[in-house]
Amino acid sequence: MQTLIKNIACLVNVREENKLLRGKELSVLPCIKKAYLIVEDGLIKEFGEQSAVNSELLTAHNPQLTIIDANNAYVLPCWCDSHTHLVFATSREDEFVDKIKGLSYAEIASKGGGILNSANKLNAMSEDDLFMLAQQRLNEVIQLGTGAIEIKSGYGLSVEGEMKMLRVIQRLKQSSIIPIKATFLGAHAYPVQYKNNHEAYIKLIVDEMLPNIAKENLADYIDCFCEEGFFSANEMKRVCEAGFKYGLKPKLHVNQLNNIGGIEAAIKLNALSVDHLETMNDDEIKHLSNSNIIATLLPTAAYFLRMNYPPARKLIDNNCAVALASDYNPGSSPSGNMNNVVSMACIQMRMLPEEVINAATINGAYAMELQNEVGSITIGKKANLIFTKPISSLANLPYCFGNNLIDKVMIEGDFI
Ligand code: NIG
Ligand code: FE
Repeated sequence: MQTLIKNIACLVNVREENKLLRGKELSVLPCIKKAYLIVEDGLIKEFGEQSAVNSELLTAHNPQLTIIDANNAYVLPCWCDSHTHLVFATSREDEFVDKIKGLSYAEIASKGGGILNSANKLNAMSEDDLFMLAQQRLNEVIQLGTGAIEIKSGYGLSVEGEMKMLRVIQRLKQSSIIPIKATFLGAHAYPVQYKNNHEAYIKLIVDEMLPNIAKENLADYIDCFCEEGFFSANEMKRVCEAGFKYGLKPKLHVNQLNNIGGIEAAIKLNALSVDHLETMNDDEIKHLSNSNIIATLLPTAAYFLRMNYPPARKLIDNNCAVALASDYNPGSSPSGNMNNVVSMACIQMRMLPEEVINAATINGAYAMELQNEVGSITIGKKANLIFTKPISSLANLPYCFGNNLIDKVMIEGDFI
């Protein structure tokens, strides 16, 4: 089946070859103005300048050809959201209100809030109910332009709970129209009963959770929340080294609240990405820029928690590879809307519109090792595409924060 999309005002992020973008490369966003694109069997087959195609001639040649008029929409590759916690049982707006009233993170935790609150709720919910809720959220973010996504466990914190979450992600993988990667985040927080016995919980992760997860092939990556009061750099190293035995590469939560050696450890562990990075010193930025690790920034989490934003400009000016993701979760980013993520990255982190689009598409795809399937307009990749409403320029997208400028979303050649 072939579909010709004609009258595209601007075809955005067209690339002949894949390349993870670092530093200055992020500001180069190749586009074709007045373009066409042909989709065959859900994949991008051909594209170019509109003047090069004659649709009447094409239909005469191929009566099966479907023609779609883009009506001067901008067409972009769908967002690649490489960091989410989209499987959770309930929202936590009561904590949100407590925070507005001035309660600290520690006070909320002592009232039974935070990650452990989500873990209690998740452990009490059936796999089917969790699946249904997660599927609804997934469908919502696809409508908002997300065309590939990573989802973490980490609200189970027990063998059964973590397995349940990962099975839900597995079912989403099987039923969803977009590619999904699963990350095991058993090392998200120490459950209350292990508060004074970290060793026993690490053993549970290493000796019970990981072998069982591997047996059912439930995870693609391993993650750890490396922060004061959570997991030390050394504990993260142990968890990741155990993951290596099952072929799980690390994608790590580091430097959100403190720098406790997470970056250095992540470099030694050859992580695929280090995520958050609100708290970074110059040495850490230098080390990261000399590594192959992707710096994944989550501006909506910094916004929601009223924290300093990650130093995106410094990271880019030091030649780092930067990706953007939503961190969709009930505690620090209760939204998976990547359109807000790119707006906030421009407004609060001074990234350029070209940089945010590259960071949220091709570099996001790299941060999930999906660069051969999604992330740019490239022959052979999935036709997962965003069609905009009429816009005056590409910068209009992040500029009109909070407005929905997406007209339609196409997944593998079909509008959803
Ligand atoms: O990425 N920081 C750790 N994990 C999540 C928040 C989890 C929660 O509060 O439920 C994050 O921000
Ligand atoms: Fe996160």
